[in-house]
Amino acid sequence: MSADRPVLEIDNLQKYFTKKQSFLDTVLRRDPELVQAVDGISFDLDDNEVVGVIGESGCGKTTLLMTLLGLYEKSGGDVRLHGKSYDEFTKTEQREFYRSVQVIFQDPFDSLDPKKTVEQILRIPLKVHDMDDQDRRIREALEMAELRPPERYLDQYPDSLSGGEKQRVSIARALVLEPEVILADEPVSMLDVSTQASILKLLSNLIQEQDVSMIYISHDLSTVSYICDTINVMYLGRIVERAPTLELLQDPKHPYSQALINAIPVPNPHADRQRTQLEGSTPDPIGIGEGCRFRDRCPERMDVCEKTPAFLEVEPGRRTACHLHYDHEAYEERKEVVPSKEH
Ligand SMILES: Nc1ncnc2c1ncn2[C@@H]1O[C@H](COP(=O)(O)OP(=O)(O)O)[C@@H](O)[C@H]1O
Ligand code: SF4
Ligand SMILES: [Mg+2]
Repeated sequence: MSADRPVLEIDNLQKYFTKKQSFLDTVLRRDPELVQAVDGISFDLDDNEVVGVIGESGCGKTTLLMTLLGLYEKSGGDVRLHGKSYDEFTKTEQREFYRSVQVIFQDPFDSLDPKKTVEQILRIPLKVHDMDDQDRRIREALEMAELRPPERYLDQYPDSLSGGEKQRVSIARALVLEPEVILADEPVSMLDVSTQASILKLLSNLIQEQDVSMIYISHDLSTVSYICDTINVMYLGRIVERAPTLELLQDPKHPYSQALINAIPVPNPHADRQRTQLEGSTPDPIGIGEGCRFRDRCPERMDVCEKTPAFLEVEPGRRTACHLHYDHEAYEERKEVVPSKEH
């Protein structure tokens, strides 16, 4: 393990599902179709960094998270913690992975056992990982999640808490094991707007004050841009653009990123940004062949878009997968068509 490597490396990760067959498919002996939900995703997560993944519903965000956690068996690629591949973990290292990588799920109403008190909910992971000093850890985690004073919450059941308090308990449950990485899957999307703001502020403070990094995934660009240092824009199982947050917001390069940003309401009606709506929705990632995956919805589509664009650096620290940003002569010389597997 190396100190200067990223905390987490996601390298060309793939997850294909086999589509459930209908009775007719079985009778006609049709080959099962592949759902290419995550198809060659790569990025690094550094110490104390917050990396975002943004994309419409169905683009593969939750599948990415479940696959990188090992909860779905990956179809290809690799996940490395401090340079060590998930595939090479010993039993002890795997346990350590599940201590140091924690998840906050989308639905606080669903992710807490209604029959357990807050104290019991927080004690379970501590017992699983055989941690010492459990009472102190539980109180500290509640404090960090701004559930104060902790005594007020210890004996409460989830049903007696508000949506925001429930999500704070989920955050405390993630923090109680002192993780290095938090994976947050749309953690505020089920909450009302004012609660969203306070939970986002809490997460942002935690990153600054604790030694923790985060992958934050959402369909909502405004929440992603509030908290993330870098944003990956995902479309149909692949990353189509990666950029530092401000640069992406000010100058999105990929037509899909442009459409997402143009769809955000403009507070000033006299502002010169045109507001456009992205037509259609993300199709299912089934039986996808060659070509840019966004081409059926792209206003800039060209003939060359029938070929899959590589994920190339367009400026220092910025990459896109779009033929608009290519040197096509160099591209032809490369004579290769690669998915988004370069960092
Ligand atoms: N268990 C599964 N079996 C088959 N297809 C799945 C399964 N889980 C997700 N999918 C499909 O994979 C794609 C990505 O889904 P998901 O990761 O849930 O997207 P997101 O979280 O971005 O909304 C969708 O087309 C979805 O229908
Ligand atoms: S590669 Fe072509 S179809 Fe795809 S986003 Fe770029 S211009 Fe549009
Ligand atoms: Mg999801």
